[in-house]
Amino acid sequence: MERREIEQLVRTELVKNVLQTQKFIIAGNWKMNKSKHEVISFLDEVANHDFGEKNTIIIAPPDPYLYLFEDKLRYSKVLYGVQNLFPKESGAYTGELSYTTAKDFGAKYAILGHSERRDLFLECDMLISKKVRICVQNQITPILCIGENLILRQGESYKNHLMGQIKEGLERISGEELSKIIIAYEPIWAIGTGVTATPQQVEETHMFLREFLIQEYGSNLGSTIPLLYGGSVKPSNVKDLALAQSVSGFLIGGASLDASTFKEINNILNGN
Ligand code: 13P
Repeated sequence: MERREIEQLVRTELVKNVLQTQKFIIAGNWKMNKSKHEVISFLDEVANHDFGEKNTIIIAPPDPYLYLFEDKLRYSKVLYGVQNLFPKESGAYTGELSYTTAKDFGAKYAILGHSERRDLFLECDMLISKKVRICVQNQITPILCIGENLILRQGESYKNHLMGQIKEGLERISGEELSKIIIAYEPIWAIGTGVTATPQQVEETHMFLREFLIQEYGSNLGSTIPLLYGGSVKPSNVKDLALAQSVSGFLIGGASLDASTFKEINNILNGN
């Protein structure tokens, strides 16, 4: 066997080992997609699927389907959440979803501050920080989304932008509460565009964010807050992205809509 082949073999084994041992969070954000019929067949395909022990599997469907999730995932490993919620228990807030309703239907996670909410619905950091707070107080794990647009990325000021989004989003959270937070880095230029950030870009940004979290919130909490990557993640790129340092998992849009693709991503992240 040639040296190059041996090196390749060693690397393949190493990669397999990393993927087989590291715990990943795999979260699907369905956005405004799927009919009732499609949701039922998806759930029938994943409810009893063997995802393995180590990865955490989450899906955030459109709100009306939560009742189906509650019903079909009762005994499943697959967890679920909402794509947004309003930081009030109840009241005159037309068109909004209360955290109490989300909880009532068994939602364990809430995606908050997604760039589509920030850009299309003008959500500001202050409102997002209230949502983060209400979730933490009510045993719903917030997935706080941050990310820069292409102009910021090209101008190099994106790091300040990301730090600002974290600081403000977590403004109402302190001490041990920080252990209940998940952060998702989703560069806007990579969302739904087919353009994925390269593993090098993801590693560089995640390491920067990790350093910031440690400096801002201390080494214990700062080093353990999960950092997900999101933006055109699919079976063909997920392995390389997973090997980037400080990537704790993925927030997946398009590729989470198809049950077999979603299962395939988990399979890859199990080292299979
Ligand atoms: P895509 O995976 O479709 O790019 O979407 C990413 C996203 O916005 C997940 O929240």
